Amino acid sequence: MKKTFLGLAFVLPIFATPSEELMKKGYEVFKRSCSACHVEYMSHKEMRQVRMKVMKGEKPPIQAPPMNMVALRVKYFYPEEDEFTEFVKDYITEPMREKGVCMPMAFKLFGVMPPIGKALSEEEKEAVAYWIYHRYKGSWEEMMKKFNKHGRGMHGHGKSIMERPALQRKD
Ligand code: HEC
Repeated sequence: MKKTFLGLAFVLPIFATPSEELMKKGYEVFKRSCSACHVEYMSHKEMRQVRMKVMKGEKPPIQAPPMNMVALRVKYFYPEEDEFTEFVKDYITEPMREKGVCMPMAFKLFGVMPPIGKALSEEEKEAVAYWIYHRYKGSWEEMMKKFNKHGRGMHGHGKSIMERPALQRKD
């Protein structure tokens, strides 16, 4: 009896838990419906290169903010998983400048996101929001600190264009 119990305790975590399944499903949705615009991950170094291009008046080599940036930015405003999920599901279905929490620069560079979520099922939206929430660790503040470490603006004057928040945090 005891042996069976212990055996189960070791075996159970190997099976796909609902969260692993959701992660897999969410990633599939991301690849299919989001990755054409949002790269999955961009390093600080690459982001700085993009900023340089933009500051020189060149077109950015990407079509939307990288997903790691989006994830931490949205988490900064909606830290609880429930509210994060609700926000993402709603935003991708009915995107609007007024409700967006991306930086003003993102809207200026890329425009408002198209309503991609309209073509997704409730389940797919849930899965992709879940995946975004759990895929990216860290905080927006930390990310910005690293991002701004070298080269604050091109000539070292003024606050970086990427630093100004679109909205003030509610709390
Ligand atoms: C056609 C290009 C495109 C596709 C495809 C796309 N996005 Fe976006 N997305 C954007 C752009 C541009 C922005 C920045 C402007 C904005 O926030 O609306 C953005 C912003 C976002 C934001 C932040 C919104 C805010 O301002 O607070 C989230 C969350 C997001 N996208 C999720 C997704 C998800 C999830 C998918 C796939 C289901 C997806 N996007 C597919 C272009 C795209």
